[in-house]
Amino acid sequence: MIKQTLARFKRLDLLGVPTPLEKLERLSVWLGRDIYVKRDDLTPLAMGGNKLRKLEYLAADALAQGCDTLITAGAIQSNHVRQTAALAAKLGLGCVALLENPIGTDQGNYLSNGNRLLLDLFGAHVERVANLDNADEQLQALAARLQAQGKKPYRVPIGGSNPLGALGYVRAGLELAEQIKATGLDFAAVVLASGSAGTHSGLGLALSEVLAQLPVIGVTVSRTDADQRPKVEGLAQRTADLLGVPLPAAFRVELWDDYFAPRYGEPNAGTLAAIKLLASQEGLLLDPVYTGKAMAGLLDGLGRQRFGEGPLIFLHTGGAPALFAYPEIWTK
Ligand SMILES: Cc1ncc(COP(=O)(O)O)c(C=O)c1O
Repeated sequence: MIKQTLARFKRLDLLGVPTPLEKLERLSVWLGRDIYVKRDDLTPLAMGGNKLRKLEYLAADALAQGCDTLITAGAIQSNHVRQTAALAAKLGLGCVALLENPIGTDQGNYLSNGNRLLLDLFGAHVERVANLDNADEQLQALAARLQAQGKKPYRVPIGGSNPLGALGYVRAGLELAEQIKATGLDFAAVVLASGSAGTHSGLGLALSEVLAQLPVIGVTVSRTDADQRPKVEGLAQRTADLLGVPLPAAFRVELWDDYFAPRYGEPNAGTLAAIKLLASQEGLLLDPVYTGKAMAGLLDGLGRQRFGEGPLIFLHTGGAPALFAYPEIWTK
């Protein structure tokens, strides 16, 4: 049912082929459990990542409305802002981004390397703000300013996480379900990083319809379960409403909030160990803000026997450019 209704929404085909689902051979032997990775870090624009899937829908909407500038907001090292700015360049649109410094650091690499460096190459215009506590209003005010200058701005919410953007992960869920079925395996869970929630909500919505038994576990990167749950549930419901379908009976939000300390944008020892393990065993790059924390959750969850029987899938949502914003974490 979801597949048919999804097909009614305009989408720019930016991904082309499905991203690979591949087994991590050495890590699986090392852990004594088969681990597969869905490689959304390999989406084909500007060093990859999950946001291109959301932008397939959001940018199609921007073009349909005749907009000439994508505006958005995020952390200085936001992967979302990097992918939005890259897409604006590719489509010949302007891009203006509001950026906050969520960890209050004055480290030079955080302020100007990694994702932030790429924004300049894409020709994005950047405005620093003290915080993004009222991001929707701040983006509205920016849009009004640009309109007064004769521009036609399109507001992309933080993380691309509104119902239209979440459709990108509904589509990803259907894509992953096909790949899972092709393996013939009975997976124990899908594990992913849960931030602005569009990835988690969209993927969970689709998988709960087509693979109702498969748990989807969101490892939070910035919030407790109590704070993150309404975001994921609310967005899943609004996405189902947009699609015109009921939330599937099997839809459940499972959150692990033990791995994000000390706070968003700051890695902990488990994050670093996970990044090192995946790099040294598999040559696979995770990041210090999202996927390092999610993988730390997967590894700890295995050790504490939090999963049922069967192989696991890790959704790799990208983020490696941020490694270059935090060189000092490896020498502490
Ligand atoms: C690398 C990476 N992984 C995961 C996420 C989280 O996705 P979402 O914001 O849809 O929850 C983000 C969001 O910015 C990200 O950049």
